[in-house]
Amino acid sequence: MEETEPKIAAAGAVDEGRLWGRLMALGQIGATPKGGVNRQALSKEDAEARRRMVAWAQDLGLAASGDDAGNLFLRLEGTDPAAAPVLTGSHLDSQPTGGKFDGAYGVLAGLEALEAIQAAGLRPQRSIEVVAWTNEEGSRFQPGAMGSAVFAGQMNLAEQLAVTDSDGITAGEALRDFLAATPDLSRRPIGFPLAAYVEAHIEQGPRLEATGRPIGVVGGIQGLRWFAVEVLGEAAHAGTTPVSMRKDALMAAAAMVTALNEAMADAADTVRFTVGRFEVSPGSPNTVPARVFFTIDFRHPDAAVIERLTSRIEPICADHAGGCAVKVTRTSDVRPTRFDPAVIDTVRRSADALDLPAMEMISGAGHDAMHLAEVCPAGMIFVPCEGGVSHNEAENARPRDLADGARVLAATLIDLAGADLAG
Ligand code: GLV
Ligand code: MN
Ligand code: MN
Repeated sequence: MEETEPKIAAAGAVDEGRLWGRLMALGQIGATPKGGVNRQALSKEDAEARRRMVAWAQDLGLAASGDDAGNLFLRLEGTDPAAAPVLTGSHLDSQPTGGKFDGAYGVLAGLEALEAIQAAGLRPQRSIEVVAWTNEEGSRFQPGAMGSAVFAGQMNLAEQLAVTDSDGITAGEALRDFLAATPDLSRRPIGFPLAAYVEAHIEQGPRLEATGRPIGVVGGIQGLRWFAVEVLGEAAHAGTTPVSMRKDALMAAAAMVTALNEAMADAADTVRFTVGRFEVSPGSPNTVPARVFFTIDFRHPDAAVIERLTSRIEPICADHAGGCAVKVTRTSDVRPTRFDPAVIDTVRRSADALDLPAMEMISGAGHDAMHLAEVCPAGMIFVPCEGGVSHNEAENARPRDLADGARVLAATLIDLAGADLAG
C-alpha cells in the first residue's frame, strides 16, 4: 500500500470547523457592536487574547514562552530540538475598528497546522513554533510591526518602549501590564536563529476573490514610510482676530495635505498615500487652532519612487505653512521586501500538491514577515477575503478558504521542517 506523503497527511488533518470556531471565539475578545474587533496593541483585550492562545497551546501540549518585547511563542518540539526552528504566525492586535481575521487568522492557522501535524501522527524534525508578534498594527503605538522588528534587530526595544499612546501611556508601561497577565510564561531571548518563517494572512485586497483562486503565493511586500507632521500656529479669538493676522494651524495643515495628495497621485494609481490621523488643538469652535498633528502613510513597490516622493514631503509642508512652524518626523521606514525564492517555491508546490489554484502576488499591506525576511528565508500565504475589505469591522472570509490556507501552511511547514511518522 502506498504511504501518504507527510505534507499531504498534515494538510488532510486540518479541521475547518475547529479553525473557524477558534477564530470566532477570539473575535469575541474586544468584539465591537458592528461585528469587528477593537483589540489594540498591549490593551487588556490583547492580553486576554494572548492568555487564550496560551491555554489552547497548553491543551495541545505545546510549550509556551515569551520574550521581553511581548512576542509569544508556542512550540511543537521536533525530533532534533537543537536545530533552528521553523516559525509561523502573525499578530493578535487589531485596528480600533478592525476585523476578526487580520492577524488572528495567521496565528490560528499556525495553531491549526500544528494540531493537524500532531493528529496526522507526524513528528517534525525541526521544531515548529507559532508566534504572535507584538503591536503589528501600529494604531495605538507607532510604528507598527514593533515586536517583529525588534526580534529581527530592525528596531531598538528601549526606543520603542518610550513611545506614548494618545493618553500619554508609554508602550513600556502598557507592556509591563501585558506581560504581568501571563506571569508563568518562560522567557526567551529577543531574536534567535530560525530555519524559515512563513506567515498566513487574509489578502486584504480583492484580487484572489476576483480571480476565484483560494491561494496567494506572496512574492514580496511593497515598501512603506510613515511620517508625523506637527504644525504650530497660534491660538486666537475666532470672533476678533482678522484672518490676515492669524497663524491658523488647521488652514496650513489642510493646504499641506491637499498639496501632498496631489504630489503623490500617479497615473497608474500605484502610490498609496493616506493621512489617517488628524488632530486639532485646542479643538474649540471659537478658538483659531494653535496646533495640528497629522500622520502620513505612503507606500510603493519601488524603493526609488519612495525616495523621490519622500524628498518632496518637507518642501511641500514648508511651502504651505503660512506663518506657522512645521516639523516633519519620519516614524517608519521599511524598504520593499522580496521573499526567499525557495520558500515561495515551497508554498507554490504545496498548493499544487493539494490541487488548490494559486496565484503569485505582491502584498500591498505590511506584515511582520517583512522584518523576518531580513534574518531568515521567509514567505507568506494569502487567502481571499470578502470584497477585499480589511481594516474594517465588516472584514469577512469563507471558512473553506481559511481552511485551505491552513492546509497549504501545514504542508509548507512540514516541507520546511522535515517529518517522520511518530512511532
Ligand atoms: C498593516 O496593517 C499595514 O498597515 O499594512
Ligand atoms: Mn495583519
Ligand atoms: Mn492590519
